[in-house]
Amino acid sequence: MSLPVVLMSRPMRPLVARQLTEKVSLVESHLQDDPDAAIAEVAADVRGLACIGQKVDAALLDRFPKLEIIANFGVGYDNIDASACAARGVMVTNTPDVLTEEVADTALGLLIMTVREFGAAERHLRAGKWEGEGAFPLTAGTLRGRTLGIVGLGRIGKAIAERAEAFGLKIAYHGRSKQAGVAYPYFPSVLELAAACDTLMLVVPGGAETRHMVDKPVLEALGRDGVLINVGRGTLVDETALIEALENGTILSAGLDVFEQEPHVPAKLRALENVVALPHVGSASVHTRDAMGQLVVDNLVSWFETGKPVTPVAECKG
Ligand code: NAP
Ligand code: 8YV
Repeated sequence: MSLPVVLMSRPMRPLVARQLTEKVSLVESHLQDDPDAAIAEVAADVRGLACIGQKVDAALLDRFPKLEIIANFGVGYDNIDASACAARGVMVTNTPDVLTEEVADTALGLLIMTVREFGAAERHLRAGKWEGEGAFPLTAGTLRGRTLGIVGLGRIGKAIAERAEAFGLKIAYHGRSKQAGVAYPYFPSVLELAAACDTLMLVVPGGAETRHMVDKPVLEALGRDGVLINVGRGTLVDETALIEALENGTILSAGLDVFEQEPHVPAKLRALENVVALPHVGSASVHTRDAMGQLVVDNLVSWFETGKPVTPVAECKG
């Protein structure tokens, strides 16, 4: 029997191609001289897609009439119209759990860097200013006494909460509903959560439902001592409103791992001293990216060998 054709159009960790080659007929279009022609040549036979950030919509699905499964490299899959996939019987999988601790570490690192201005402090030292001009100024911000409002108390949100508790922060949260068995105070809207805390941590999925959930009124509610940390998706925040709030002191500072138009980061945002900006590195260690790659492989192999995926997304369960 011929092996199922799986298309990979962007590079992933080396283990992905290495292992898939043994189990499926893998087409790595990004390695070809003419990637579009390589895709066109196999489109009619493709049964699986290994996907990393590509937009998957109805038009793309139309190109692959035999498609059965899309294995996404990443827990967030706002790049994929999963409802359209489910409606056509196309399975979608993601990479939950294996990146939770890494992203939670990143979130805490980013929070501390932002509140204590460690990026600016390091720039001060590297520029020779410590020796030349003196000590870096005391920071206006401190973690002491802060209340962390977590928007999205899911897998990563809970891992962040555990860490933040160890640092002495009070925790509150917002999600679409109050969670049974969770003792942290619940707020039914982001606005109410922002008004009740001084530090807002975003860790919800992207997509139309959550677009610009942090806007001007939310930033005003967060207040002058307010700190915004976003490790969720850039689309969660109205970036124009955020820049204004950071420029005019509506909030104190922001730590951002994700942006609205990645990899573009507005020059105004890059210029602000009260911003710590990271290039979407939440899960970006070899250890964790390899674990994510392994889960991409496991989902595809399990699907073709048993008809069942390992980690289907919510829209494709049951
Ligand atoms: P998860 O376990 O599914 O948690 C998501 C949380 O968001 C849930 O608690 C859910 O609570 C809440 N939520 C979902 N839709 C919502 C909405 N419309 N309004 C309010 N709350 C909503 O997912 P996870 O594994 O923690 O990952 C969360 C997200 O982190 C991913 O989707 C991705 O965007 C982002 N992420 C970023 C990086 C990075 O490198 N920066 C890495 C990994 C993940 P309810 O169901 O109660 O609403
Ligand atoms: C990845 C992420 O960097 O898992 C996610 O949702 O945002 C990150 O872990 C990304 O998905 C891969 O491009």
